[in-house]
Formats: sequence, C-alpha cells, structure tokens
Amino acid sequence: MKNFLSLADVTDLDALIQSGRDAKASPFADQQLGKNKTIGLIFFNSSLRTRLSTQKAAQNLGMNVMMMNVGQDSWGLEMEEGVLMNGDKAEHIREAAAVIGRYCDIIGIRAFAELNDREKDYREQVMNQFAKYARVPIVNLESATRHPLQSLADCITIEEAKATSSLIPARPKVVLTWLPHFKPLPQAVANSFCEWMNARARSGDVEFVVTHPEGYELAPEFVGDAPVIYNRAEAFAGADFIYGKNWSSYAQYGQVLTQDPSWAVTMDDMNRTNSGKFMHCLPVRRNLKVSDAVLDGPQSLVIEQAANREWSAQAVLKEILKTL
Ligand code: CP
Repeated sequence: MKNFLSLADVTDLDALIQSGRDAKASPFADQQLGKNKTIGLIFFNSSLRTRLSTQKAAQNLGMNVMMMNVGQDSWGLEMEEGVLMNGDKAEHIREAAAVIGRYCDIIGIRAFAELNDREKDYREQVMNQFAKYARVPIVNLESATRHPLQSLADCITIEEAKATSSLIPARPKVVLTWLPHFKPLPQAVANSFCEWMNARARSGDVEFVVTHPEGYELAPEFVGDAPVIYNRAEAFAGADFIYGKNWSSYAQYGQVLTQDPSWAVTMDDMNRTNSGKFMHCLPVRRNLKVSDAVLDGPQSLVIEQAANREWSAQAVLKEILKTL
C-alpha cells in the first residue's frame, strides 16, 4: 500500500480486516517493522480518537511519532497555487509538505471539509497537495469527503460482533441512519461508511441500507447501489446494526435543513430491530442524537468501535511499512 486515502488504496479488504483483528490479538508482533521509522500526524482539526489511536498503533509497530496542529503549533498553510501570499497564511504547502516529508517516513493528515464550496471540498485539495509534495506515503486521518480509518474500524467491529454473537446472521442488515444536530457537519464519515459497506455488500458480507430525511441525499458516487429508504421505521425493521451519524446537506451544500428530533435514536427505535447493535464513530451529543439508554445499554458498540481504531490504524501502517 503506497497511500491510504480511500478504499481504492486497499487491494484485499478481507485481509486488511483480518490484519486489524490479528493486531488486536497480538499488538507487538510487528515491533521491528517500524523501528527507526517516523510518522508525522498533522491536524488541521480537533481529534480525540484518531490522534491517540494512530499514535498508539504507530508505537505498537515500533515507530517514532511527531504531532503538529496546523495554525497553532505551525504557520498557517497556503494550499492554492500561484497566489500572492499577502494574507494570513505564512507558509506554502509546497515547502511545508516537502519539509515534513524529509522528517517523516509516513504522514497522516486530518483536514475536514470547510462546507462553503462543495467543488473545492470534494476536490480534496489538502490531501492531494500533501500527496503531491511530501514524496512519502500519506494516511487519511479524515479528509473533506472520507474517513477510511474509521470505516475500517467499523468493518472490524461488525466482523467481531458477527463472530461473537449467534444472534447476528452471516449477512447482517446494516442501516446507516441520519441523526439530528443543530450544527452543519461534514459528510465524510457517512460517505466513507457507504463506500466501505457497499464493498462489503458486493462481497455478500452485509446487506446495506441508508435512511435519512429528504434533502440529505449523499453524493451518488458514495451511495452507489445502496437502497435509500426515507421511511425510518421501515429501514430499522429487522436491522442487525444501526449506524448513526449526522451530516449536512450535500445538495444544498453544508446546510442544516431540519433538526427533527424524531430522528434521534431511542430504545423504541432499537426495539424495532433484530436485537440490533448501535454504532457511532464518536464524539456523540447525548440525547440530542442518541438517548442515554441506547448508548449505555448492552446494544451499544461505540466504545469497542473506538477501541478498534487502534487496530485499523495498525493494519494500515503495517501495510505501508512493508513497502518502505
Ligand atoms: N471518530 C473520530 O474520528 O474521532 P475523533 O474526531 O475524536 O478523532
């Protein structure tokens, strides 16, 4: 694996999921692989799970880790080419990425969508500029349109749950449901989850369904062949996994079209499922998006899902380290 920007960089998804599960069973088996190698973790946005789990995964592999918050620890970075740099950005990505690439063997980048200009966000300028100028492998720690380390952890979590519960069928029904929120959030987690679950559906490992209010349709290239069921109760019926996430509108880009509280997930909703498990990437606003009872009950997988971020990062870093 040269870069990990999206599912397109994965040649064998089953093997990558298994590699994550193997790392969980034996975290230090590959300590020599990363010896004397350095990863730089570059954050344009806040993080709890991604920051700590990726650092831990790299350390499990014997790597050195450096972190930087762009604009706080570093200069602000200009991404546009050929501009007169007379604004608040003191350094250009051409130099910054090239220099970081001299210090690091792998670079992880987190850069969210700004939600002002859809074409610009979906062009993935930050990730692509780093990939162009750093000359070392790039790992997507959540970009404008995708969060593939999260999606891999989600796949690991679903496979683990299948392996440990006789109630979950071999081809479980997985439902992505929109959740209400007053703030406009990016579509990245939902996009990525669709991308990865569609791949799992194609290989017969899940049945995948999406439900959201009208106006919250995701970009067609991410929804793919997944059925979109606007009737939420119908979508939840017989589900084995409910994956909750808020996102802002793609069509009316970055807008909050409704905050309808009836889309928050409650125990009444979970009782319509096939003893379904609840998943969310976190952070989650309790009782705005999901009730306390759902998050604190035995159906919740959110902590295990977050724990699996370490193993998804370790599986990906291992694949990249093997090529260095
Ligand atoms: N799920 C996730 O990426 O969490 P953080 O934003 O805290 O890293």
